[in-house]
Amino acid sequence: MNNFEFYTPTHIYFGKGYADQIGSLIVKYGYHKPLLVYGGGSIKQSGLYNRVISALDAAGLSHAEIGGVEPNPKLALAKEGIRLCREEGCDVVLAVGGGSTIDTAKVIALGVPYEADVWDFWCGKSQPKTALRTVCILTIAAAGSEMSQSAVITNEEGSIKRGINSEFNRPLFSIMDPELTYTLPKYQIACGVVDIMMHTIERYMTRKSEVELTDRIAEALLKTMVHYGPIAYHEPQNYEARAEIMWASSLSHNDLTGCGKDYFTINHKLGHELSAVYGTAHGASLSIILPAWMKYVYKYNIARFAQFAVRVMGCEYDYANPEITALAGIDAVETFFHSLDMPVRLSDIGIPESDIPMLAARVTANGANTFETYIELTTKEIEEIFRLAY
Ligand code: NZQ
Ligand code: ZN
Repeated sequence: MNNFEFYTPTHIYFGKGYADQIGSLIVKYGYHKPLLVYGGGSIKQSGLYNRVISALDAAGLSHAEIGGVEPNPKLALAKEGIRLCREEGCDVVLAVGGGSTIDTAKVIALGVPYEADVWDFWCGKSQPKTALRTVCILTIAAAGSEMSQSAVITNEEGSIKRGINSEFNRPLFSIMDPELTYTLPKYQIACGVVDIMMHTIERYMTRKSEVELTDRIAEALLKTMVHYGPIAYHEPQNYEARAEIMWASSLSHNDLTGCGKDYFTINHKLGHELSAVYGTAHGASLSIILPAWMKYVYKYNIARFAQFAVRVMGCEYDYANPEITALAGIDAVETFFHSLDMPVRLSDIGIPESDIPMLAARVTANGANTFETYIELTTKEIEEIFRLAY
């Protein structure tokens, strides 16, 4: 097991009705004026917006607000939020929505006390030294941003989608009521299932093998997703399924399943290019990339891929030929994503094969960067992974 630090300080309020306490919770933590951030309108349609405003009013809190966050959120709107937050004197950023909304809130929170261009943090020019606090009401189980130290944003100039990790990104508290996810379109339920599994599988496919406890935690999480994902997909109002998945979303990306491990996040890197260039939903980008990446790299760690196949996907262990077991596991993942009507090929979402060299070149910034994933990946290997995904 590798040395590790684990600190995941977000206070979670999990269960029915907590959203109505948002005002009193903000007061309890000593804040006076939230900047409410939300997406394209789902919270207005579901009635959650009115509940939040009532709860803020009841607690005697004034607020400012900015809506219109898009999936794969954009920098310009976050900058508008920074301006508004300063102008209105807001002292906390309240995100009500999914990963895109929460990440926009995180960008705003980092940007308000920073005098230069907030993009500096994403292009490596500067490191965050302070931030406002963010608090969340989560409406979709997927990205895990409600407990994570990541914030992912797209700069419209050059369509560059990037994430950064910083302790300042951990929300102060997150409200998670599974009932708030009942209104999700099926496609978004499935995207969320893929993303939650992806965060866990990326950490599971470590180079180290001596991480039994962390492996077992990850396996429990993944098996929970394999069991409850289809239930939530087919019975959107099944509270138990929604609750299990919502909790898995947070645990998949708060670093618990990575403790003591040495892992790669290359799938996300490739997926982000699909989102940046074509606007592909994050989960859909991953359901296409993951099976291809697995097919490309399994041979460098057959034992681990076979373990995954047996312990998570329920495949039979082939003692004579573990490689067959490893491949059966990859097949099972692809079949599982397919069963949720997720795309598993670039061609499923109309991306032409001729775009592959351009995509690979974007990932490596025309060969300037390489990535580790059992072996070093240059533009050539990344192009091969994209071809396996075609
Ligand atoms: O914008 P609205 O109208 O709210 O609609 C959203 C959006 O269209 C809709 N939705 C959310 N909750 C709903 C709902 N519709 C009906 N009922 C509800 N209860 O779902 C759509 C997707 O929302 P989005 O916030 O984009 O979803 P998700 O949570 O999957 O977030 C994806 C973003 O998070 C980033 C992704 O790259 C992507 O930009 N990620 C952030 C991470 C982090 N900060 O830790 C880690 C992840 O790996 C990921 O990269
Ligand atoms: Zn993700």
